[in-house]
Amino acid sequence: MNKKIAIFASGTGSNFNALTKHIQKNCNNAEVVCLICDKPKAPVIDKAYKLGIDTFVISLKNYDSKEQYEQTILNYLVDKKVDLILLAGYLKIIGHTILNKYQGRIINIHPSLLPNYPGLHAMERSFNDLADMGVTVHYVDEGLDTGSIIKQAKINYDKNENFDDIEIRMHELEHQLYIEVVNDILKGE
Ligand code: GRF
Repeated sequence: MNKKIAIFASGTGSNFNALTKHIQKNCNNAEVVCLICDKPKAPVIDKAYKLGIDTFVISLKNYDSKEQYEQTILNYLVDKKVDLILLAGYLKIIGHTILNKYQGRIINIHPSLLPNYPGLHAMERSFNDLADMGVTVHYVDEGLDTGSIIKQAKINYDKNENFDDIEIRMHELEHQLYIEVVNDILKGE
């Protein structure tokens, strides 16, 4: 069966780009059917346009509650017959409205070795602490980066290495790890 995938992203979209290109090129049993974006000016929107992916832009501020906002997203996902949700830089916590329908089928990527450094600026915080750095792909639950871990990868870095260089390598690692996890899921593993 063709698995229909929605990607939620609100920023640059390098993970969106890598995942979508990979799936379009290599996965004949899956399709990225939409981008959900909550930032109208996010660069990821242009990337979706170039890859021919439908985009649904939605702002929480236009809704009276998070429930109404998420219900609108949920209606769109159901309409698109989405089976799997990949979060890739979507900066909101997924609430119960979406979780009730999709729990176990929502995955996130986070730039730290969870459970260390959940939340925002994880890369900078771990670098500033000279802590181990790496990437985690995990299922999403109602907490902040607390869902069960699917796969992790660590990077080696030198204390004198420049943060910008590490950031580039971290993004490359993210793309690689996220693609590995998606491949495993599509193979049914
Ligand atoms: C990534 O670092 C990801 O781990 C985090 O948000 C960032 C998104 O980056 N959740 P990009 O927009 O995919 O380049």
